[in-house]
Amino acid sequence: MNLDILTLFPEMFESPFGHSIIKRAVEKKLVQIEIHNIRNYSQSKHRSVDDYPFGGGAGMVMQVEPIDLCMQHLKEQRAYDEVIYLSPDGELFDQPMANQLSTKQNLMFLCGHYKGVDERVREHLVTREISIGNYVLTGGELAAAVIIDAIVRLIPGTIGDEQSALSDSFQDDLISPPVYTRPADYKGWKVPDVLLSGHQAKIEEWRHEQSLLRTGQKRPDLLK
Ligand code: ADE
Repeated sequence: MNLDILTLFPEMFESPFGHSIIKRAVEKKLVQIEIHNIRNYSQSKHRSVDDYPFGGGAGMVMQVEPIDLCMQHLKEQRAYDEVIYLSPDGELFDQPMANQLSTKQNLMFLCGHYKGVDERVREHLVTREISIGNYVLTGGELAAAVIIDAIVRLIPGTIGDEQSALSDSFQDDLISPPVYTRPADYKGWKVPDVLLSGHQAKIEEWRHEQSLLRTGQKRPDLLK
C-alpha cells in the first residue's frame, strides 16, 4: 500500500509513524508512507501557499495551484484509489471505513490548514472528504495520522496475531471484553476465576457475555 500525505507541516508526521506497529509495517514494506510539502510546489517568489479570501473575511485560504501541481506530480507516478481531504465537514470516520480503505493500494491525503482550501480543490481534485469527529482541529495532519494508523494496522501481516485486529472493539459492533495479565492478585484486586480455569469454551463464553454487557453499559448506541 502507498500512502502519500500532502501537508504544509511535514514535521508533524515525524513521530506518529516512527514507532511500534506502524514503524514495523513500514520496515516490512507492507506500507510506504511519503510526506510531501505543498510549499515545494509554490510558483511564487516567496513560496507562498495561501492568500486572502475573495469577498473578504477572516483567515487565509490555501491556494489551488500548489496543491494541483503536487497532485499532478504524484498522479504521474501512480493511479490513486482515493484522494482524501481531511475536513471537519467530511464523512465521519469509523471502523467500516477503516476496513474499506485498508483494502486499497494507493491513497492520497490532503491536509488543510488556516480557513481551508480553495473550493476548487474540493470540486475538481478530491474524491472523498473525511472527518475524524465533530470538533475542529487546527489542521488535517492529526486526522490523517489517526486514519492512517487505523488502516495500516489492518493490513495483513502488520499485526503479528491477525486474529487480534479482527477481534477489536467495533469490528462486530461490540466493545472488547476486559483483559488481564500477571499477577493474578494485585493488592487483593483479583483476576476473574474463569480466566485462570484453563477451560477455553467457558472463557470464550465469558468474553462474549462481557462484550455484550460492556457495550450495553458504555455504548448502548452500538446495540441495534
Ligand atoms: N481538520 C480540522 N478538523 C478536522 C476533523 N475533525 N476531522 C478531519 N479533519 C479536520
